Amino acid sequence: MDHFSLKSGVMHAEDVALPRIAEEVGTPVYVYSRATLERHAQVFKAALSGLGSGDRAPLIAFAVKSNPNLSVLKVLQRQGFGADVVSGGELIRALAAGMAPEDVVFSGVGKTSAELELGLDKQIGQFNIESSEEGRELAAIASARGEEASAVLRINPDVDAKTHEKISTGKAENKFGVPLIRAREVYSELAGLAGLNLRGVAIHIGSQLLDLEPLETAFAKVGALVSDLRAAGHTITHVDLGGGLGVPYKAGETPPSPAEYGAMVERATKGWDVRLAFEPGRVIAGNAGILLTRVVRVKRGGNGPPFVIVDAAMNDLARPALYGAWHDFEAVEPSGERMTANIVGPICETGDTFAKDRECDALQSGDLAIFRTAGAYGATMASSYNSRGFVAEVMVDGDQFAVVADRIAASAIMDAERVPDFLA
Ligand code: LLP
Repeated sequence: MDHFSLKSGVMHAEDVALPRIAEEVGTPVYVYSRATLERHAQVFKAALSGLGSGDRAPLIAFAVKSNPNLSVLKVLQRQGFGADVVSGGELIRALAAGMAPEDVVFSGVGKTSAELELGLDKQIGQFNIESSEEGRELAAIASARGEEASAVLRINPDVDAKTHEKISTGKAENKFGVPLIRAREVYSELAGLAGLNLRGVAIHIGSQLLDLEPLETAFAKVGALVSDLRAAGHTITHVDLGGGLGVPYKAGETPPSPAEYGAMVERATKGWDVRLAFEPGRVIAGNAGILLTRVVRVKRGGNGPPFVIVDAAMNDLARPALYGAWHDFEAVEPSGERMTANIVGPICETGDTFAKDRECDALQSGDLAIFRTAGAYGATMASSYNSRGFVAEVMVDGDQFAVVADRIAASAIMDAERVPDFLA
């Protein structure tokens, strides 16, 4: 459920009419709904509430990569969320938003030594180590500092998550984690190192999962591994089950609900006797944001439908170009008439296509429209391709709104460039 809906024929974000935002902030602009974020956070928390309490209460570490906007992080921090970060930049954002260092987990297959140092400097709660090489490096850095880094070992369970190949992370050929068959050996090697407090395992098999079965299969493998590791004498107190729960992008799509996910987790982890962590991104932020855009013009097609050319482009919302992803597209003030159109941006690539042959509200030059489900992997994946700037981001709260990220003009990006003397 989200808070983007028509009121008296005009699309609103909560109680703010979108034309007001377009007028004051310009387009394209990302618009986030605080109430939607909070609702998603609460539903997710409630779904996991049976998994433990007190110091066994699950850690919910928001996947910052899905939406790193400081105000979004702040909303989630106030809901008691921690953060799953994958770079020094994300780590600094999570802390800037007030997330407790002990509630930060640091994932990622290529953490640099500087990033490992930063994690230690900031005393984060957990490093999710992705290889024996990384584990040895972290152990060496920590022990040289006279410290001990808390860590879990990420396992690659070789499970097909049945999602887009570019966002599948748990198959043997993917770069993530340690293959299950080597997990015991690597775990034993790392558990013996000074500087490392290896206390469990982590997993994340992919994103936009619409079926719980691959997750449950992967969790069963984790459960068996935990037993094996304990039998080998290791003390396992923490398991991080990652993120991945899908969201509806299209009307009629029905991904598993957080409650169904929670029930499956409860079933799969029964008797594990650990503190669980979760790294949800999309399920929290996806439907809490839209991209508001204005139609530049409508151009007659060749032998197909007309091109609705909007002022947003693949540099602002990359998902359709990158993954062939579907985003619902609706007029802000629908007339009731419909059309079939190709929805495209102004960038000079055919890939700058949001939708082909899409049946949608009838639109003409100057009209406002929205792409839905743009709150996750939207603004954060923007680029400045075609020397376009970075779009602004707005957060709505009831009948008020605020710009939570300024538009960055193409000229400001150019200001960071220098022409050297040898070209003078
Ligand atoms: N944890 C780890 C280790 C991850 O790699 C990811 C996502 C998450 C958690 C959060 O997954 P979520 O709950 O959001 O599914 N740009 C792509 C998605 C890439 C996901 C990468 N990893 C897209 O736009 O669909």
